[in-house]
Amino acid sequence: MAVQNIYILGIESSCDDTAAAVLHNGKILSNVIATQEVHKKYGGVVPELASRAHQQNIVPVIHEALSRAGIKKEDLSAIAFTRGPGLMGSLLVGTSFAKSLSLGLKIPLLEVNHMQAHILAHFIEEEEYNKPEFPFLALTISGGHTQIVKVNDYFKMEVIGETLDDAVGEAFDKSAKILGLPYPGGPLVDKYAQTGNPKAFPFPKPKVDGLNFSFSGLKTSILYFVQKQLKENPKFIEENIEDICASIQHTIIGILMDKLKKAVKQTGIRQIAIGGGVSANSGIRRTLKEAEAKHQWKTFIPKFEYTTDNAAMIAIAGHYKYLSEDFANMGITARARYKF
Ligand code: KG4
Ligand code: ZN
Repeated sequence: MAVQNIYILGIESSCDDTAAAVLHNGKILSNVIATQEVHKKYGGVVPELASRAHQQNIVPVIHEALSRAGIKKEDLSAIAFTRGPGLMGSLLVGTSFAKSLSLGLKIPLLEVNHMQAHILAHFIEEEEYNKPEFPFLALTISGGHTQIVKVNDYFKMEVIGETLDDAVGEAFDKSAKILGLPYPGGPLVDKYAQTGNPKAFPFPKPKVDGLNFSFSGLKTSILYFVQKQLKENPKFIEENIEDICASIQHTIIGILMDKLKKAVKQTGIRQIAIGGGVSANSGIRRTLKEAEAKHQWKTFIPKFEYTTDNAAMIAIAGHYKYLSEDFANMGITARARYKF
């Protein structure tokens, strides 16, 4: 059989990153991201501004992805796009653009669930990266979601635990905001935590049944704790930033690890893959590696560029849909809430 040349263009626009990537037979040729700086001064993503920025960025970002890949749009086999979940105005930009391009080029359209794509990022063809084998557990941790997923096959996934309120990325970002750090605060908490004492300030862990999570209580206890300390010492934050961040991070990792251990016990599956922006966290990466030896787990940690929102993960999800000829039709619409 002749070797097939599959070129997939992935388009991601679910939140505040406009991204495009080109994949050739599952290998990355280009992976371009335009991060929207406009939200920084508001301390969070402003949906209206996000959709406008996507409108501005989408054409240049796709041009750049094609040019870095060294291919022409006529070489593409199909267009994959994020259908949801995400901000409706943002999703509409990518969805409409993908539909038009697929129509114009007369090539198939592939719709992708953003959360499934975070998991499927592990299947991007990379040298020296072993892919997980089915079934495995995925911990998807981002600014919008926190889920434990039982992955039976590429598109046969079951959510077995999820957050009842804030996502873990929000827990990082909101805690950072209390400390006066700019948005998104997750990477800064990570940075300060590296030189802090994780046991300096114990914060309570929530009691939630089963495999579900809750993070809103943690944010409140951090707020009350910081306010109380500031009354006694107005310089409390600046004098203790490393220890506070290390303690917050330690508590969050503890919450995640408790549920992961429970999920392993419940399912008997010992392969764990992580995905989503928060999986860039150095403490989480280190703790998972330690758990490999301690609990005989096999862990899968993606490269940094595939953890936060990107279009390579959308393209690889599209690649597997293309192989099974699971094409979308032109009547397809974006979905702000998109369960699988
Ligand atoms: O997956 P993502 O890029 O976007 C969403 O789909 O939400 O995740 C963004 C989230 C933000 O909350 C950000 O603070 C967090 O990921 N994040 C981190 C780190 N890098 C990004 N949180 C903790 N430590 C990090 N190193
Ligand atoms: Zn994401």
